[in-house]
Amino acid sequence: MKAGLLIRGISQLVTPEGPGAKHGAHMRELRIIERAALAVSDGKISWVGPEADWAGEAATTIDVGHRAVVPGLVDPHTHAVWAGDRLADFDARISGVPYERILASGGGIWGTIRATASAQPEELLRVATPRIEALLCSGATTIEVKSGYGFSSDAEIAMLRVIRALSDACPARIVPTLLIHVPPKSAADRAAYLSDVCQTLIPRVARDKLAHAADVFIEKEAWSAPEAEQIFVSARHHGLAIKLHTEQFHRVGGLELGLRLGALSVDHLEACSAEQVALLGGRKTVATILPGVSLHLGLPPAPGRALIDAGAAVAVGTDLNPGSSPLFSTAMALALSIRLNGLTAQEALTAGTVNAACGLGLNDAGRIEPGLPADFLVLHGSDWRDLVYTLGANPVRDVWIRGERIARCPAEGPPQ
Ligand code: NIG
Ligand code: FE
Repeated sequence: MKAGLLIRGISQLVTPEGPGAKHGAHMRELRIIERAALAVSDGKISWVGPEADWAGEAATTIDVGHRAVVPGLVDPHTHAVWAGDRLADFDARISGVPYERILASGGGIWGTIRATASAQPEELLRVATPRIEALLCSGATTIEVKSGYGFSSDAEIAMLRVIRALSDACPARIVPTLLIHVPPKSAADRAAYLSDVCQTLIPRVARDKLAHAADVFIEKEAWSAPEAEQIFVSARHHGLAIKLHTEQFHRVGGLELGLRLGALSVDHLEACSAEQVALLGGRKTVATILPGVSLHLGLPPAPGRALIDAGAAVAVGTDLNPGSSPLFSTAMALALSIRLNGLTAQEALTAGTVNAACGLGLNDAGRIEPGLPADFLVLHGSDWRDLVYTLGANPVRDVWIRGERIARCPAEGPPQ
């Protein structure tokens, strides 16, 4: 075989195998090849195996010096485009004011909506770019980015255009989602906005291919499940997939709605009950958990362990946003899922790769397999578990996307 590039000197190559989300105990099944090599041609993986078995020729060979290689991570849930900051909210929360009360009194997400509305698109692009770069350096080669700080059809479209510009400027694969975040205060404005979203915004977004999915924040302080259903009916009608922010603070029934409508994922789930956990067993809908939120808001962690034991397909994301999860590392989200949600290292890798990809409707990301895009990470260490063990240093040395090394991360890795 002739390859453009051969990566050798891999201490361990570790990857989930085969298409489709991994459920329950299957999340722990990883392919581990010791002393491995991988070949790349035309941006795709062309061969993977023990280095001793490579019998081909490569135009270029790179020896990674006995380091571990894993798939590029997939961050399935971020709000990386926002203006302003939430430092005053942070102070208020530290002195005991709950997130939901700040939101109810017109702060929190409302403050970010106001700041984002008054920023020019160029400014939004300028502040979002280093956030995406931080996620990239932490190992994310595919990143979902939501709108949701717009609060009018035009402002949501403007946010989605900024996300498109981010995508054009950045080597990572950016997956854009339209988020319908919080409703207007008055009942009349609320009904009018809901109908504008369904009649105007969603058709425009679908026509201009500005998002792959519609997401709704279902919560006491946000949209109800019946309102969200109207939005999802319109989204599906216009060919968009469905995602939900649900069961974050209260049991609001979004989980059941998402399952009924065949959502790609139901995200958050900190407040879900044992009965709701059982409903996710064996389902195609991915349960996306966001440990940065539990850490930052002090919420009970989503029941990651119970979800896996019930046979769910669990994914993990950063939920990068200024209010509930200022977490700029996808690798760290996986590390936190072990400490806070009870995942094993193997489950966390699956949750941050193939399962996260399935939560975005992608079947060609999150695995190292011939024929798939050559998106992979070289770690600093020789044992892949450093990826999810390390806290506060970057375990990722090199990030490769479609066969190109796009970032040699500036920070030193953890001492080896
Ligand atoms: O995923 N819960 C709602 N939305 C975001 C938070 C957004 C914000 O606080 O700005 C979340 O937690
Ligand atoms: Fe979120």
